[in-house]
Amino acid sequence: MALSWQDSMTTGVPRIDKQHQQLIHEVNSLMDAMRAGKAKEEIEKLFAFLGEYAVKHFTDEEAEMERAKCPAAMTNRLAHQQFVRKFSQLRERVAREGITPTFIITVQKDLVDWVVNHIRGVDTRLAAYARKPSPIGAAG
Ligand SMILES: [Fe+2]
Repeated sequence: MALSWQDSMTTGVPRIDKQHQQLIHEVNSLMDAMRAGKAKEEIEKLFAFLGEYAVKHFTDEEAEMERAKCPAAMTNRLAHQQFVRKFSQLRERVAREGITPTFIITVQKDLVDWVVNHIRGVDTRLAAYARKPSPIGAAG
């Protein structure tokens, strides 16, 4: 089943939410292409595009969390670094072994499940801080 963005995934920052929607779209395209048995070259292109998009998005989101003084900023940054390492392992595996049913299951876990759990568990923590216009006078 395709992954979908839900209201419960909001970070309170429309720009970041849009990026998450795009990220989910790219993840779905990749999963569809793998399940449809598309050529390895095409899958590798989708991996490359998704990887670049994810890194750009992470940079943006990390800056946003820092700006908002969100306490999850460091957790978020570390999670992103871990993801980037795992993602490059997946890409190396595609180049080496091509697409196998086992690989698709691994991608489902390391990519699809990760994205959903990460948005829900970490990124949404931004919501409470992003909405505060300024810390001045915010007490009480
Ligand atoms: Fe994040």
